[in-house]
Amino acid sequence: MKHFYSVQDVRDLDDLILTAQGMKAHPYKYQGLGKGKLMVLLFFNPSLRTKLSTQKAAMNLGMQVISMDMKDSWAWEFEDGVTMRFDKAEHIKEAANVICRYADIIGIRSFPGLKNKEEDYKDQVIQSFIKYSTKPVINLESAIRHPLQSCADLMTINDSSKFDKLKIVLSWAPHPKALPQAVSNSFLEWMSAAGHKVTVTHPKGYELDDYFMNGHIIEYDQEKALKNADFVYVKNWSSVSAYGQCLSQEDKWMITKSKLSLTNNGKLLHCLPVRRNVVISDDAMDSEHSAIYDLAENRLHTAQAVIYHILRDIL
Ligand code: CP
Repeated sequence: MKHFYSVQDVRDLDDLILTAQGMKAHPYKYQGLGKGKLMVLLFFNPSLRTKLSTQKAAMNLGMQVISMDMKDSWAWEFEDGVTMRFDKAEHIKEAANVICRYADIIGIRSFPGLKNKEEDYKDQVIQSFIKYSTKPVINLESAIRHPLQSCADLMTINDSSKFDKLKIVLSWAPHPKALPQAVSNSFLEWMSAAGHKVTVTHPKGYELDDYFMNGHIIEYDQEKALKNADFVYVKNWSSVSAYGQCLSQEDKWMITKSKLSLTNNGKLLHCLPVRRNVVISDDAMDSEHSAIYDLAENRLHTAQAVIYHILRDIL
């Protein structure tokens, strides 16, 4: 694997998930693989799971890790040919070239501005870094995709079910702040790649981008969507058509235990962080339906599988 930007970078999805299961069983088996190698993680936005799981995954493979909060660094210019008189002190070209002299693998987290869809969907920060990078780049959640999360989502679904024919539901839920579409976009993209058709349920106005919806089904009636579901993936996202806006809170869309009783004893998934009793009620979060902590744990095993495949390819 050269870069890990999206599911398209994965040569063999089944093999990646098998590797993750192997990492779960024997986390320190490949401690020698990353010896003498450095991972640099650049965070333009906050993180708990991605920062810790990626660092731990790299360390399990024998790598050293430096994480950088980009608030402590220079502001980057991304346009070519600009006269850099104003607030941007360093061009991405220099930043990427210099970091590649130090690091063997680079991870980047950079969220969207949620002001301009065209700009956000270019995914400029990570794509510009990849353009100038001589080293593999891992997407730690970009403006429009979160592939490390989706890889863990897929592992959790595979681990929790022996059946191929599953009803998987992606349900929008309310949130007080406008959130990106990255987790939902990637979830749909990875489920497609794994051969799953997802039932997506949300209030009108929250339709996801056609590129990611390709082949999946919209059901505007949440209760109808939840009926007989094997997995319920809960996530808020802001509107794509009224770009970046929260159209309404729609509190009745919160996931509760009574709604989960409509499912086929379905598993509840959320990427975290979650606002309890806004997105998901306490009684659902703490119910036997929840596979949320298993999913968070799988962030470690799947990140380790991704780094393992990158290391194997660069050594
Ligand atoms: N799910 C996830 O990416 O969590 P963090 O934002 O805490 O990294």
